Amino acid sequence: MTDQKPTNPSTNIVWHDGEVTGEQRAKVLGHRGCTLWLTGLSGSGKSTVGVALEKALIERGVLAYRLDGDNVRHGLNANLGFSAEDREENIRRVGEVARLFADAGVVTISSFISPYRRDRERVRRIHEESGAEFLEVFIDTPLEVCESRDPKGLYKKARAGEIKGFTGIDDPYEAPARPEVHIRTDKQPVEESAAQLVEALIARGVLRGD
Ligand code: ADX
Repeated sequence: MTDQKPTNPSTNIVWHDGEVTGEQRAKVLGHRGCTLWLTGLSGSGKSTVGVALEKALIERGVLAYRLDGDNVRHGLNANLGFSAEDREENIRRVGEVARLFADAGVVTISSFISPYRRDRERVRRIHEESGAEFLEVFIDTPLEVCESRDPKGLYKKARAGEIKGFTGIDDPYEAPARPEVHIRTDKQPVEESAAQLVEALIARGVLRGD
């Protein structure tokens, strides 16, 4: 794997501060920005929970927006595959994008397998360094359940050897050790998971309670 902090080939670049504070943005929106980082196996329910949460937040008048692995890989990250290096770069880029969204005041819901702990820790660190809120959410669904759901038929292909390096089959998934939120999609309905995340945002002071 490459070094975590890419060397910056640009020289003579100087950070230019703006004149708008996070408090001013929060006043405009009525809530603070943050990143909810959903991590878990393919088929674990990250996108399903993310979609339900985004809807629940918008209905509460909260500016929420999803960044989703399959979608981002059609555009921003269309040039990346699933090697360890490409997954690292995928997470580095979307981590930076999430941080910008969170800084803009948006409740950002990112759904990426993000299988490597080191990459997720880096995303946490860049948020903390810039004062942006970050909550790691473990969508903890056993491999057998993900495989039995197999919504895209990819586990079947991976077992047949038609896809190499598939997470959980022949590529590792490093589960979070201390996620802020732990969700078992095989034990609770999706609406309950979304409500659990709304509560976590209130407890964190990102949103106001009712
Ligand atoms: S990550 O590992 O880099 O975080 P990401 O979340 O962007 O992955 O994309 C995962 C999605 O890509 C899966 O849900 C699945 O639809 C698809 N996919 C295709 N090939 C693979 C693979 N080898 N491993 C995991 N997911 C894959």
